[in-house]
Amino acid sequence: LRLGVMASGAGSNFEALVQACTDGRLQAEVALLVVNNPGCGAQQRAERLAIPCQVHDHRGVASREVLDQALVAAFQAAGVDVVVMAGWMRVVTSTLIGAFPERLINIHPSLLPSFRGLDAVGQALAAGVTLAGCTAHLVCEEVDAGRILVQAAVPVLATDDHPSLNARIQRQEHRILPLAVSLVVDLVRQG
Ligand code: GRF
Repeated sequence: LRLGVMASGAGSNFEALVQACTDGRLQAEVALLVVNNPGCGAQQRAERLAIPCQVHDHRGVASREVLDQALVAAFQAAGVDVVVMAGWMRVVTSTLIGAFPERLINIHPSLLPSFRGLDAVGQALAAGVTLAGCTAHLVCEEVDAGRILVQAAVPVLATDDHPSLNARIQRQEHRILPLAVSLVVDLVRQG
């Protein structure tokens, strides 16, 4: 079963997915990575990992729909069955969501429904919560609101700042995202 991955930043979740496929925790292969930021960390990791990577720079595209149409075409050409948004910092449209019904997964660094949207880690720190975490969920048209697949909670320490809490959450992201993808892959296999 073939995975497509979308990333905008460092790509640590992308690499965690590749690692899970390599060590057999995830019975799939990452067929294609798409990035929107040329030269981002995710693209560099793809080169090191010998995973095909395409740059679809949103700055050169007329609309979100046109960008998503190109992503759908790229994933379909690569024979992708399930798509994972691993730190994709653009709002996606029904063009992409509709092309992969129940097969488009996102990772968000909060315990949804708390702290939707940007900088969820900063929101948690500002709110003074003692428990934070991350959520892997199916993507629907409403941002950060689809069916929840897997969540992980982490403590927020009095000594935490953004980097320390973000690092603790990301360690859990790298564990739950492959888990969530394997759940969806199994469902797809059952047909
Ligand atoms: C992750 O923390 C994810 O939850 C958020 O963006 C970050 C991407 O990190 N949406 P990376 O690019 O996978 O390292």
